[in-house]
This record gives sequence, structure tokens and C-alpha cells, in this order.
Amino acid sequence: LARGTAEPDLAGLHVVVSAGGTREPIDPVRFIGNRSSGKQGFALAGTAAARGARVTLVAANTSLADPAGVDVVRVSTTAELRTAVRAAARDADVVVMAAAVADFRPREAAEAKIKKADDNSAPEIRLVQNPHVLRELGHSRSRPGQTVVGFAAETGDAQGTWLEHGRAKLAKYGVDLLIVNEVGVDLTFGADHSAAVVIGADGSEEPVADGPKERLADVIWDRVLKVRTPND
Ligand code: CTP
Ligand code: CA
Repeated sequence: LARGTAEPDLAGLHVVVSAGGTREPIDPVRFIGNRSSGKQGFALAGTAAARGARVTLVAANTSLADPAGVDVVRVSTTAELRTAVRAAARDADVVVMAAAVADFRPREAAEAKIKKADDNSAPEIRLVQNPHVLRELGHSRSRPGQTVVGFAAETGDAQGTWLEHGRAKLAKYGVDLLIVNEVGVDLTFGADHSAAVVIGADGSEEPVADGPKERLADVIWDRVLKVRTPND
């Protein structure tokens, strides 16, 4: 379905989307980060606005232009992203966690730039786990009837296929929908296109062929509407 002028089927909904990748400071000039471009989250925000939603986009370290008609909140660390998402989620109908959130952060960030020692030694950086924003949202909805959507990049291994790992994650985080990307193939990071399977807590499974991230975004919003009004 081409959406030059989209029908406003998300009108009346406040949707919150997180995008990009969080950064965890090591010292004032260095950080632990990841390769997320933010394109999928920005595509979700832009398509939702085009379909009539009120959109809050929490963007972590992206270099993309603000999508039209979207309220953008810029953050950097996981702690900042968590605060911004939870604040926006208080009156949200839908929350989509498309951001690549750092699993670990340095236990403390050095206040001054870390200098090399003359003896060739290197500092040890102690990591601690970050809070899991999606799991918190999935298990304690900030609003009754709120729809919570996550993403997962999975590979198959001895324990199961990438899709089985996705199903396990959907249950573990208590979310309504999980968008599962198979990684390992050169896909996803920084690309303009992506293939995925959208799995639902209702057991549904919708494969989405490789295509533009806007197309996947529209499929996700279609599924969100189905979850919210199952009899339509
Ligand atoms: N996520 C989150 N908070 C974290 C880590 C991840 O909210 N601290 C969210 C991501 O935004 C994504 C989903 O959880 O929607 C899955 O992220 P992913 O990295 O695929 O899985 P993890 O749950 O972090 O598990 P692991 O990396 O150990 O496989
Ligand atoms: Ca992770």
C-alpha cells in the first residue's frame, strides 16, 4: 500500500519511540557505544506522525534530521534514555523500544581524561549491568491497555533458532509485539532496509521481506492497531 497521503488511522494515539544507540562514558572524551544508526526508530516516528499519531521520539546519539511533526527528545546515556522514555510513557498508548540500549556501563566514569602510563600498562574498566527499560515497561504498564513493542537481534545457536530465541524474549519481557531481526548476515546496522519477523504475544508470526525501514515501520503500526482492536 503506497502512503503518499496516509490515512490517519493512528489519530488520537500518543506513541513513544526510542531510537539510536546509547553511549556510556568512560571519561570526558571516551565512551562505550554501538553501531545503531537510528534509522528504524526514525522511520517508525515519521510514519506514525504521517498516520496521525502524536509522536514523542527519544533519540540517542543519532545524526538524522527530526522527522516532520514529531516531538524529539535528545539523550545520550541509558540512564537519560530511561528517564525520558518513562516520562513520555506515562500518557502513551504505545511504546516502541527501537533503540540499541547498552547492556553494560563503566561502574564509574573518570572525571578527568585517563592518561597512558609510561610502563605500557592499561587501565581495567569495570562494567555493571544497565537497567532493562523494555522489561520494566512490559511488566509494569504505566497506563492500562498500553501496547509495548520491542526489537531483538538474534542469531541461532545450540540452544535454538533465532526465532525461538525471539519467542523466549517476548515472553520474558512481557511485551505485546517483538520485531526479530536475524543478525550475522551483513544486514541491519546503518542500512536503509531490513528483513524481520513480527511476533505477537497472541502467537502470531508475520514475516516481513527485506525492504525499506519505512515499509517495516508501516507493518509494525498495522500490527499495533490489530493488537489494540483485535476484532477489526
Ligand atoms: N533493551 C532495553 N534496555 C536494555 C537492553 C535492551 O530496553 N538495557 C531493549 C531494546 O531496546 C530492544 C530489546 O530490549 O527493544 C532487546 O534488546 P537486545 O539487545 O536484542 O536484547 P537484550 O534484552 O539486551 O538481551 P541480550 O543482548 O543479552 O541478548
Ligand atoms: Ca542487548
